[in-house]
Amino acid sequence: MGIFYEESGRVFTLQTRHSTYQMKADGQGVLLHTYYGEKTDNTDLSCLIARGDRGFSGNPYSMGGTDRTYSLDTFPQEYSCFGTGDYRISALKVENADGSRAVSLRYAGHAISKGKYALPGLPAAYGTEEEAETLSVDLKDEESGVAVRLYYGVFEDLDVITRAAEITNGGEEGVTLLKAASLCLDWQTGEYDWITFHGRHAMERNFQRTGIVHGLQSIGSVRGASSHHYNPFVMVCGKNTGEEHGDCYGFSFVYSGEFLMEAEKDQMDQTRLICGIHPDDFAWKLEPGETFTVPEVLMAYSGEGQGGVSRIFHRLIRDHICRGQWKHSRRPVLINNWEGTYFDFTGDKLVDIAKDAAKLGIELFVMDDGWFGKRDSDNSGLGDWYPNEKKLGCTLKELGERITALGLRFGIWFEPECISIDSDLYRAHPEWAVAVPGRNPVLSRNQLILDFSRKDVQDYLIERISNVLGSAPITYVKWDFNRSICDKYSHALPADRQGEMAHRFVLGLYRVLETLTESFPEVLFEGCSGGGGRFDAGMLYYTPQIWCSDDTDAIERLQIQYGTSFGYPVSAMGAHVSAVPNHQTGRVTPLATRGCVAMAGTFGYELDLNKLTEEEKEEISRQISTFKELYDCIQYGDYYRLASPLSGSCTVWETAAPDASEALVSAVYHHVQANPVPVYVKLRGLSEDASYRVCLVGKTGETILSGAALMHGGLAIPPAKGDYCSWQIHLTRI
Ligand code: DGJ
Repeated sequence: MGIFYEESGRVFTLQTRHSTYQMKADGQGVLLHTYYGEKTDNTDLSCLIARGDRGFSGNPYSMGGTDRTYSLDTFPQEYSCFGTGDYRISALKVENADGSRAVSLRYAGHAISKGKYALPGLPAAYGTEEEAETLSVDLKDEESGVAVRLYYGVFEDLDVITRAAEITNGGEEGVTLLKAASLCLDWQTGEYDWITFHGRHAMERNFQRTGIVHGLQSIGSVRGASSHHYNPFVMVCGKNTGEEHGDCYGFSFVYSGEFLMEAEKDQMDQTRLICGIHPDDFAWKLEPGETFTVPEVLMAYSGEGQGGVSRIFHRLIRDHICRGQWKHSRRPVLINNWEGTYFDFTGDKLVDIAKDAAKLGIELFVMDDGWFGKRDSDNSGLGDWYPNEKKLGCTLKELGERITALGLRFGIWFEPECISIDSDLYRAHPEWAVAVPGRNPVLSRNQLILDFSRKDVQDYLIERISNVLGSAPITYVKWDFNRSICDKYSHALPADRQGEMAHRFVLGLYRVLETLTESFPEVLFEGCSGGGGRFDAGMLYYTPQIWCSDDTDAIERLQIQYGTSFGYPVSAMGAHVSAVPNHQTGRVTPLATRGCVAMAGTFGYELDLNKLTEEEKEEISRQISTFKELYDCIQYGDYYRLASPLSGSCTVWETAAPDASEALVSAVYHHVQANPVPVYVKLRGLSEDASYRVCLVGKTGETILSGAALMHGGLAIPPAKGDYCSWQIHLTRI
């Protein structure tokens, strides 16, 4: 059991295997946050809250002016409110019917139940009654009637606590939510850094660690999607925390739309973190009796540094976010024709590539952009989801059958949320495109956004995509989204509800995905947004893998996949071997290195196999056999970042089977040197007292070393032989 309630002090303590989280409804009914961190007992830690008469930090009226040491401006709280004396960043901001912006919440009750709560219409972690428990705490603003139910899901074994909220207008007049966060977390003590992941198209999730200093720091997105630019996953850690030691917290927003993650160090040197929907383009009207559900945040604590938190998130996402029959089944090794042909293909050309693919052991052929409507460039056709039989030279069914007859699965690409002005759909329904009346909308990749906040648009896409999927033997869909949203306006919403459009768009996307994944359970959906522009736990609930980046350069990928690995597992990261010189950077890397890097993801190819030499094809065939042989260790192993791509000469990572029976160490020299300094790494996740057979993949010879020697003494990585050389080192317990 992980949830404890101590009635006399109204203290809630949430216990996981290695962490404790605590809150308390105090005498004023304020829900104070009293602790989150390394496991402790159920002692009421509100004793640590410092009190003092602090100028300009006011006191609640209910104190009757007698206690000037009690201030919501300094006390740690579970869900901070705007406008009533807490001047720090807030979780909740409401506009009342009289125009005032004051809300103040007090404890009104709670419930504890087995199992994990679910959120209507939104993705959320799930768990059985044996795996999870739920605490809900009710808070209420007496004056307006606004009621907030805070949800806590406790996955005791996993060291995970989830948070979400429901906000109900229990009053008699309408109110507008101006900010509704999912998480407010206060640390009373300690100095912290936070680690965030910034980027751009074709260079996502770059690691950045900075101190949380006095003032506000934030990351977020107002682009309609979670974005390439900032990922909705952050870590907060102690100043001395490293990759494998020290206090570390992770926070992942299970949401694919506009988000804001803010950190503030306050006047008392306390740290506050807020995560939720970005308030800039959010205003949600709540009529009396209506409820708004705030998306979920996943939280984890580990005393084993950033690596400890990453491994928790990898398990959590694999086992409690990803769903459906592909969750744990072997994902097929795929070939995608995008970088092989771009828009320039015919059905015969695709079949020719598929023939080579089948011979090499590839399992799935994916036909990317260009198979539908009038689509020979990215200037037209989006929205017309009808196969272009003239270009394919046959029906979609016939093409699918030709490919499946080769022993391959068949998959196709869609970009359902966008529309080209030059399309039949736009000509029929210009009002379905997102644009502010009277203004010309911004074009991006020469396309517009389809208004997914509208039910008729959602229903149309469900019908059209279902039709295509039902018409041919398709078992994979790549779901792309190639621009950011702006000019937000929906013809289906009244003026005073336009502030709901961005969130309704995401709810619409989730509804479409939920319907399609339910109707086509055998189809593997891969998310994509110009690469990794919507790489978040929300999408992973529907699409268990996401194309990591449009940058397929193996050396750049080291950095992208390194950053991605902090919050997301290998099984979520779409990674392919592409041709050299690389199409994005012009760099030439060895095929072995491209294979090694792509194997740190879902693994596939993205080139024209017909253009390769026999030697290259043989090497690819060997790569695929290696990947298939090591599949379980790579996809389900515990992941360790042993040497970072951000420094030194060699990036090294390891996946170790959870039972320590085998491990794969992958090393890529991103920088080749004369007279090189040797590279040593200390392995992790092995049995100290077992012996391991250590082999270089693809080479003969072996060494026998003990787990203790490998973990404490270390392993020497063979030196680089030429530019961007790589090694895969396989260890098996004897
Ligand atoms: C962006 C994706 O990331 C690419 O892989 C490819 O599918 C193109 N879109 C197609 O337009």
